[in-house]
Amino acid sequence: MTETTTSSGGRPSLPMQGVPQPSRDEGLNLPRVHISSHPVMAHKMTALRDKNTQPPEFYRHVKEIGALLAYEATAMLALETVPIETPMGPMIGERLAGGIGVTPILRAGLGLAEGFREVIPDAQIWHLGLRRDEQTLEAMEYYNQLPHRVDLQVCYAVDPMLATGGSAIDAINVLKRRAIPRLCYVGIIAAPYGLLKLSQPHPDIDIYIAALDESLNDVGYILPGLGDAGDRQFGTF
Ligand code: PRP
Ligand code: URA
Repeated sequence: MTETTTSSGGRPSLPMQGVPQPSRDEGLNLPRVHISSHPVMAHKMTALRDKNTQPPEFYRHVKEIGALLAYEATAMLALETVPIETPMGPMIGERLAGGIGVTPILRAGLGLAEGFREVIPDAQIWHLGLRRDEQTLEAMEYYNQLPHRVDLQVCYAVDPMLATGGSAIDAINVLKRRAIPRLCYVGIIAAPYGLLKLSQPHPDIDIYIAALDESLNDVGYILPGLGDAGDRQFGTF
């Protein structure tokens, strides 16, 4: 998404160097952005960001944060009535109306998807592999296990880090071709830059995050962020 330019000496410059970035307040003003304000979330985020948190614990925190985000992001789901019998007699219960899809953007989205499955065990998991080229910051698709038959009421694209927004935009583009009635993006940390970029082509999706950070550094990493979410989950430093 971000073009690599060349400096006067002919050497490639850093992809986000000199790129103007919106303020945090601009991100906060977006209408469909939901930022968690739950104290348990804030507590877990501190442990997640800490550089001393090791991969097994880091993965566990991503999963737990995924479950909390799932709880918040599913608050608007549609219900339908269903007659049941309790041991005491008949009643009209409620159940989710239609299937739920979760699309983890590989690989860092895997931990978040696990958290979603804790909350919605029968969610369909649609794997989508996108890798960000670290020179150009453009996302490239390398894996797609999206089914062709769709019977979902909603699908959540999940990925911990919304940095330049390139991966999230591509993921939503792919999902939009599946004619799902409602799409949401769920992330852990967003940069204002990525949040505005994602909202421009996709103003119709709700975005759920645990934290909105300050900015991107020259190579497109979120500040203060947590480093590389994939490497920290899977120990590939
Ligand atoms: C990271 C992260 C996002 C993407 C965010 O993934 O998990 O998918 O970068 O950056 P963007 O908003 O600038 O697109 P990466 O491509 O490094 O792959 P990984 O999950 O395999 O580590
Ligand atoms: N991907 C990450 O894992 N971390 C960032 O800060 C940006 C992209």
